[in-house]
Amino acid sequence: MDALLNWIEKRIPMMNAYNKHMAEYPQPKNSNFWYIFGALAMIVLINQIVTGIFLTMSYEPSGDGAFASVEYIMRDVEYGWLLRYMHSTGASFFFIVVYLHMYRGLIYGSYQKPRELVWLFGMLLLVVLMAEAFMGYLLPWGQMSYWGAQVIIGLFGAIPFIGDDLTLWIRGDYVISGATLNRFFALHVIALPIVLILLVALHVLALHEVGSNNPDGIETKLPKGTMGDDYEPEFKFHKDFTKKYDIIDSMPFHPYGTLKDLFYAGLFFIAFALVMFYAPEMGGYFLEPPNFEVANPLKTPEHIAPVWYFSPNYSILRAIPDKLIGFVFFGASIVVLFFLPWLDRSNVRSFRYRSKIHYINLVQFIISFVALGVLGTLPATELYTLLARVFTIGYFMFFVLLFIYSKNEKTKELPTRITK
Ligand code: HEM
Repeated sequence: MDALLNWIEKRIPMMNAYNKHMAEYPQPKNSNFWYIFGALAMIVLINQIVTGIFLTMSYEPSGDGAFASVEYIMRDVEYGWLLRYMHSTGASFFFIVVYLHMYRGLIYGSYQKPRELVWLFGMLLLVVLMAEAFMGYLLPWGQMSYWGAQVIIGLFGAIPFIGDDLTLWIRGDYVISGATLNRFFALHVIALPIVLILLVALHVLALHEVGSNNPDGIETKLPKGTMGDDYEPEFKFHKDFTKKYDIIDSMPFHPYGTLKDLFYAGLFFIAFALVMFYAPEMGGYFLEPPNFEVANPLKTPEHIAPVWYFSPNYSILRAIPDKLIGFVFFGASIVVLFFLPWLDRSNVRSFRYRSKIHYINLVQFIISFVALGVLGTLPATELYTLLARVFTIGYFMFFVLLFIYSKNEKTKELPTRITK
């Protein structure tokens, strides 16, 4: 057996890769609760792909058949309801997990040098994930699928000169039709998932090249990318492991990271199951009531709102009266995040050791983001529009202020070794 494994290893060093990227990947000792969401995002991605494959077996991608085929999956296909609810709940949980994952990066400054590329690949993941969710939402061909897509595709019409041609090109027809459904289906089930998988690989490889950040935001005492020359893998299950390796700031990912992630994955599955079995529509936030009616181009729903995970950006769009400027700010609310590593000019990463002003700015940004999210799900009354304008300013001011104060920020003294 050993000889066979050696033979394989010489030709394709899989164990070497496994040790480098999993078993012996050095995980900072102080990585906390906020560090579970990367692994959870991977688990949800796998859930989406597996349930998606089975849904595709019974779904019919056509304007005439799509809605009925989803009904068929829910009622007649064995465990079809389970597959569909796993997929629809999974979509919302994906965004919850990814937003919390980004929140961690934000507070601990994980986007800063030398992890800019990790952040950029993460941002590309976010954009592709949004496109993936948007296209998936058209597939059940319900009223909200139809009208939500109508609103979002219509936005491109605001672009000067090319707007009309661009919307025509996206739809593949003069209106949203079976042709649009077919191309969204192709992109949703094959093209974008491939891009997502590739981006996750690049994201993790880029991270493993420079090593993980940690809640203190300081470099760990260790050569990067390995547990170091003194490390003896046989010792990793020993009760004195941490004592012996007190000279370094990291632990091997297996068993320390794997067990921690497994424990939280268990809690995550419980939360996931509770929603899936007892509240799969989540009060109309995960599956919207108008989507239980088949798409009807002649009947506009009373209140069109995108699914909750798009609502912060949608709120920004609605807060601005001019269609083109609204569209620009809508796009800018995502694009600006790509520039975060260069907008933050501080040498200190974690909010733990940064100034009060940074702390206040972070808090106001989080409040603005959540408030915009809530407002985006409500009808645009005068008061709500006013509030959306205030929080839109709050959202963008975060980046402007950060750029200004971070250059000469008065930060606290950094510890020389990571704290517990
Ligand atoms: C499909 C979506 C994603 C997956 C599967 C994913 C996966 C991961 C994994 C497994 C890690 C290492 C474990 C950890 O630190 O949590 C990680 C780290 C990281 N991710 Fe993601 N990620 C995703 C999206 C994003 C997004 C949208 C961003 C931000 C724009 C992002 C930014 C980061 C950063 C900055 C790190 C390094 C954190 C640190 O070392 O402190 N990721 N990601």
